[in-house]
Amino acid sequence: MNTIHVLGIAGSLRERSLNRFLLDAARTLAPRGMSIEPFDLAGIPLYNADLDADGRRPADVERFKRAITDADALLIATPEYNYGVPGVLKNAIDWASRPSFRSPLAGKPAAIMGASGGAIGTARAQEQLKLTLLATLAPVLPHPAVTVARAREKFNADGDLVDAATRDLLAGFLNEFAAWVRRVGVAREGRGADG
Ligand code: FNR
Repeated sequence: MNTIHVLGIAGSLRERSLNRFLLDAARTLAPRGMSIEPFDLAGIPLYNADLDADGRRPADVERFKRAITDADALLIATPEYNYGVPGVLKNAIDWASRPSFRSPLAGKPAAIMGASGGAIGTARAQEQLKLTLLATLAPVLPHPAVTVARAREKFNADGDLVDAATRDLLAGFLNEFAAWVRRVGVAREGRGADG
């Protein structure tokens, strides 16, 4: 694997979403050898199993599934809504998760981060999201975590991440993520060679 192509997913549709800003910061802090391309979930409709069949799936869902397939890894920035994963993000993952255990998410390395106005910075939503990804067979970066608490104080009016400690944390996290994706990728390729 040369450059690691990461699909970046923010679980918020807000134009000035803190999680979109966090994903933007990750794009600028990504280590050499990693690129992060964002995918906007705005076009993904509510899940309907009647439409989840070849030839019937909404075009944006097909585009999302293809983007996941084509990516080497996923970086998800989740908000926290009522201690959990926002419906927008859970819904998109549900679309991507079929057919179960053979979906584009199966075996796709993923890392989770999140920003919120609250004091524990999406930790509860991140735990839920890990469990959901586990159900899809996507391996999740076990450590470290990026939970950006009181996030409004950490971005400026332009949406730039200006808090030095958070920038350092995010840069370290992305380095770990890149090294881990390479390890997981080698394991996946090895498994493929063994059949
Ligand atoms: C929130 N927010 C919130 N924050 C938090 O830390 N824990 C929570 O459980 C919740 N719950 C919650 C529910 C709903 C319906 C909304 C709209 C908001 C606040 C949330 O962190 C804040 O709105 C963030 O700015 C949302 O992320 P984006 O849209 O900025 O990425």
